Amino acid sequence: MTRKRYDREPGTREVEAMLEESPVHFFAAIGELEWYSRTHRHWIDDLGLRVGDRVLEVGCATGTLTAYLADNGYRATGFDRSNAMIRQARNDHPDLNFSVGDAARLPYDDDTFDAVVAASVINVVSDSESVLSEMHRVCAPGGTVAVLVPSTDFTDDGFDALIESLGLEGFSRAALAKWHRSAMKMSRSHLAALLATAGLGLAVTHSYLEGMVIAATATVQRDRTAP
Ligand SMILES: C[S@@+](CC[C@H](N)C(=O)[O-])C[C@H]1O[C@@H](n2cnc3c(N)ncnc32)[C@H](O)[C@@H]1O
Repeated sequence: MTRKRYDREPGTREVEAMLEESPVHFFAAIGELEWYSRTHRHWIDDLGLRVGDRVLEVGCATGTLTAYLADNGYRATGFDRSNAMIRQARNDHPDLNFSVGDAARLPYDDDTFDAVVAASVINVVSDSESVLSEMHRVCAPGGTVAVLVPSTDFTDDGFDALIESLGLEGFSRAALAKWHRSAMKMSRSHLAALLATAGLGLAVTHSYLEGMVIAATATVQRDRTAP
């Protein structure tokens, strides 16, 4: 059975123990993994943002991707509901802006950002519609709302091929196995329906890690002067 098969992946127990004992250290560690950070960086690069854009990262954890956004010339803000994550993010990236709160009630005015992005957040929150609506609200017309989630279409065979092509071992391999086995996943159609419910019309989708994760991007077209 699939579950037993990936339970036997070397290092899985260590990954699970780390995740349970200290999610902060776990997210700081996976943020540094080559396959993980490369996926996030490709996703951001594909958005075609402009230098100087104000970018909010929702669910930033320890801020690794927020730092990449800032390094690329965007005016980045990281946001997470976990005090512990944001404490670590501020410690690791003292020059960056981070805030704590619930993404279902973002503490920003309408149209504050040029882009609002969230990786592996929409699939874990219970109120994904509220979170997406808030991401939409705080993004200016013409701006970009982008989310990335693990895909329901990704199979065990796909996972085996991915592990092989990446040549992963040790913690890196076990972390990928844990993600494949345990992450909450979404289908393209579910993702598209959620974006539509949040008033985010046509979404463009991409996939990364040979289909393990999918991303949807929508351009905000809201007209605030409309009745
Ligand atoms: C699965 S982790 C993903 C972290 C990071 N974006 C990544 O891709 O590695 C989900 C993150 O979202 C945060 N989060 C969950 N629910 C949230 C909410 N309602 N508002 C803000 N952050 C939330 C968690 O604290 C956690 O840091």
